[in-house]
Amino acid sequence: MSDPFRRSARIAAVELSEILRISELADALKREGRDVITLGTGEPDFPTPGHVIHAAHEAALAGQTSYTLTAGTRALRQAIAEACQRDNGYRPELSEIIVCTGAKQVLYNAFAATLDPGDEVLIPAPYWTSYPDIVTVSSGRPVFLPTSAATGFLVTPDQLRAAIGPRTRWLLLNSPSNPSGAVYPRAAIEALADVLREAPHVGIMVDEIYQHISYVPFHSFRSVAPDLADRTLIVNGVSKSHAMTGWRIGWGIGPGRLIAPMVAVQSQITSGASSVSQAAAVAALAGDQQLLAERSDDFRARRDMVADALNATGILDCPSADGAFYLFPSCARALGRTSGKGRRIETDADFCEALLEEEGVALVPGRAFGTPGHLRLSYAYSRASLSEATTRIARFCASLK
Ligand SMILES: Cc1ncc(COP(=O)(O)O)c(C=O)c1O
Repeated sequence: MSDPFRRSARIAAVELSEILRISELADALKREGRDVITLGTGEPDFPTPGHVIHAAHEAALAGQTSYTLTAGTRALRQAIAEACQRDNGYRPELSEIIVCTGAKQVLYNAFAATLDPGDEVLIPAPYWTSYPDIVTVSSGRPVFLPTSAATGFLVTPDQLRAAIGPRTRWLLLNSPSNPSGAVYPRAAIEALADVLREAPHVGIMVDEIYQHISYVPFHSFRSVAPDLADRTLIVNGVSKSHAMTGWRIGWGIGPGRLIAPMVAVQSQITSGASSVSQAAAVAALAGDQQLLAERSDDFRARRDMVADALNATGILDCPSADGAFYLFPSCARALGRTSGKGRRIETDADFCEALLEEEGVALVPGRAFGTPGHLRLSYAYSRASLSEATTRIARFCASLK
């Protein structure tokens, strides 16, 4: 008899996240009493600023506890428009903004609103693990554009031109990138924009959630190519910039004819983001932004400390990263070797499993991001944890024969 709870064809294609698999392994070791350091998480280790928490408290006490407009409160969309003017030099209309339950839901709403079965979304690899799955859940087909350290993990104009076909509906860019940390320089955006001008059937989604954690000048796609604004969706939010991952506030900025169906999707799925979180996000965007630069400087110092330690192993090859809080070293030199405790390392996943079992350090294999032969490490952890983790990684690398 057929199971009423069998997975739908769409969901059956969604894979259990590799990040989850590694966390489960790490948890199992912790339960055995092992001392495990996890460098897998994608969130800042800073707290949400106090004034933001205070604003949420005040809003709740003042009765802002009801449903809000589905697209987001006017106050928050106004604050987003002003922040966008301040940070990126353009000011979207309120009808061009949708506030969602985290940036992740912006992606979901946009794909659910626009994709028909078989429509293609171009995704440069390495990519954030959720991208292909969100496309698949929305009946689309992810098409990957592999990049490498040789091009700074940036997709090239020729590559993009060759990948665009009649079924292409979107290009999905992420700058600064999770997991590579790559940030698209202005000239690189201009070159991609030139290709996209020749392909008017392609929408451009640019995930700029790590905008404020950039160690090189950051350029929003829409500021560089304003003439493409009528088919560009910018994704952003306060999760990473203001250490607000748990508040679940992200937003999309795009043309009204895209935002309207996204709002329709949202109206049937969540009714909109939390009222109290939206009030908190207003305070985050309107308040003092000095903290962002200070936190970014702190991340940069940690990046240097970890990248130097990884390169000193002689096994890992760790290019620096221009933004976000991840490093994405190659472990190619470790492949084909055997660990101190006799584990054969044939793949990046073997490396991660052996490192976890033997030294109690949890990293995520590059294959989770569509780029095998690499490892992703988040340095949003205390210096003490990072120092202990890199000591253990160095010992593990030294044990490889
Ligand atoms: C590239 C990228 N986009 C979006 C998100 C999700 O952001 P949010 O927590 O606001 O949904 C993440 C979180 O890890 C991310 O790394």
